Amino acid sequence: MPRKKIALIGGGQIGGVLAQLIAQKELGDVVLFDIVEDLPQGKCLDIAEASRVDLFDNSIKGTNDYKDIEGSDIVIITAGLPRKPGMSRDDLLVTNAKIMQTVAENVKQYAPNSTVIVVSNPLDAMVTLCQKITGFPTNKVIGQAGVLDSSRFSTFIAWELGVSVKDINALVLGGHGDTMVPLIRYANVNGIPVMELLERKYNDKTKAKEVMDAMVNRTKMAGGEIVKLLKTGSAFYSPASSSIAMVKAILFDEKRVLPTCAYLNGEFGINGYYVGVPAVLGANGAEKILELTLNDEEKAMMDNSVKAVKELVADMERLGF
Ligand code: APR
Repeated sequence: MPRKKIALIGGGQIGGVLAQLIAQKELGDVVLFDIVEDLPQGKCLDIAEASRVDLFDNSIKGTNDYKDIEGSDIVIITAGLPRKPGMSRDDLLVTNAKIMQTVAENVKQYAPNSTVIVVSNPLDAMVTLCQKITGFPTNKVIGQAGVLDSSRFSTFIAWELGVSVKDINALVLGGHGDTMVPLIRYANVNGIPVMELLERKYNDKTKAKEVMDAMVNRTKMAGGEIVKLLKTGSAFYSPASSSIAMVKAILFDEKRVLPTCAYLNGEFGINGYYVGVPAVLGANGAEKILELTLNDEEKAMMDNSVKAVKELVADMERLGF
């Protein structure tokens, strides 16, 4: 069987880690594209020179020519600028939407049969624009946000309870912003509700709720916490790892249930928008959306998050995209 081909559009922080992870895990041949001359070539040469040590023989090619992504099975888009001091959300939206326009046109031309995973921010708007421009089926254009947000939530829960993160199941739905919806009620440790364990730990329902609320807030602000520490950029190791989980699910038709920024056709009562929801990821991309019952409080949070996504998309359309 020929190797799978994975194109990475954007050879910055996330793109570089993605290339290394794909190589080390031997998921397929890598093409790393960036508009900055020599940057992707340099990163790929550096990664390839570790092939003897890490024992992989995938092809790893850096390029400034879109033609090299021809025939890719999967395309991961991280091209775009992070927000800088003084930039409004609209500024970032315009800048990254312009970048996405070019990227998506080239993906459409050179990798028409690919499944696309968008990582660039503002995520919900960028996925929407990418699908619109490529015209690919909505199940084949998805966004990465929820895998990371859920992993962050799980990590904080594991630290708090002193148990292995491998046994935590926690789900974050909604848009990729401050309005995201970490689902407290469904969070569990191998089936045991996290809230029950917290209440037992503190023997105090109010304190348990406070601890959970703090973890929820930290999850919502986790991206900003990293930006504050790094000072020159945003998170890149964890977004790359999260995208790899999605890539593997698609490449190996795993049918994994991962929180995905997916297009909704009435699920959760939402029509015609990309929102973070649990999706079955397999060879056909987001093959199915799994709905779950939300109580009134959760539904109100989800509605609020969807409202923010709709506003973002409306802003983008108002700006001419
Ligand atoms: N085409 C291709 N690549 C581009 C283009 C373009 N038109 N414009 C910019 N780029 C490249 C930049 O040259 C840079 O190498 O995109 C890369 C972005 O890399 P970083 O600035 O290091 O950003 P990174 O941390 O990788 O995050 C990328 O993902 O999580 C989001 O908010 C984050 O939107 C950002 C994106």
